[in-house]
Amino acid sequence: MRNLNQDTITQAVLARLAETPDARVKALMTSLVQHLHAFARETRLTEAEWLRGMEFLTATGQKCSDTRQEFIFLSDVLGLSMLTVAMNNDKPQGCTEATVLGPFHVADARRYAHGADLANGAFGEPCVVRGRVLGLGGEPIAGAEIDVWQADAQGRYDVQYDAPEQPRARGILQSGADGSFDFRTIVAEAYPIPTDGPVGGLLALTRRHPWRPAHLHFRIEAAGYESLTTHVFREGDPYLDSDAVFGVRESLVADWVRQPDGVYALDFDFVLNPTTCRQP
Ligand code: BEZ
Ligand code: FE
Repeated sequence: MRNLNQDTITQAVLARLAETPDARVKALMTSLVQHLHAFARETRLTEAEWLRGMEFLTATGQKCSDTRQEFIFLSDVLGLSMLTVAMNNDKPQGCTEATVLGPFHVADARRYAHGADLANGAFGEPCVVRGRVLGLGGEPIAGAEIDVWQADAQGRYDVQYDAPEQPRARGILQSGADGSFDFRTIVAEAYPIPTDGPVGGLLALTRRHPWRPAHLHFRIEAAGYESLTTHVFREGDPYLDSDAVFGVRESLVADWVRQPDGVYALDFDFVLNPTTCRQP
């Protein structure tokens, strides 16, 4: 195959994928090549521009480490993370909606008993969080695993500190026999996603702000139910309508209410989809 030109090269690349044994890999690669070539044609991409694009992707990879996931930031600010969440979490009416996982989840976080203080010294205003984990039919789900994490009032997750001596403002609880849970932590505050890397440069280039509205992350797992990755967002936050990663859903916005003793309280129930109710 020689003398390929701008009209024949796409088909030549697609033909090269013909022997791909895995049907899904073949479909994904075929579509990716078609869309990438269409993008180059539509924009009349110059060689200098594509070189700059590859330098950007290289810098994105070089910025990644065990505690820094620049590619996840890129996917998030392009709306691709939230698009895949939306397409893959089409749950029945009444279920708690899903949103992005983000890059700051830590597997196997410390386990806590009911009423414990997950803040563990994290900087912020004290609050209690209470609620229940329910099934779509309203049935309480006992023994659900509730994984919680959040940024502190300085806008940083524990893993973003240089030498985190201990996990802060994150932990795992189990729902009780009536599906209930409660724990203490700090009030969620808005924070900017890190801007000291290539994705921050991209945001600046396109005059976009890096802020996420205040939120508390949850990942909830229970036998017989689809797992749920979501946030609860704080009512009144100025960034609810311009989240840098497009993750806000109206049904996930709730009030952190200041109580007479000065401690805030958040009450929120989660409704899980039974695995038998998967939407087509
Ligand atoms: C987060 O909420 O933790 C997050 C999500 C996307 C990008 C950066 C942070
Ligand atoms: Fe977050």
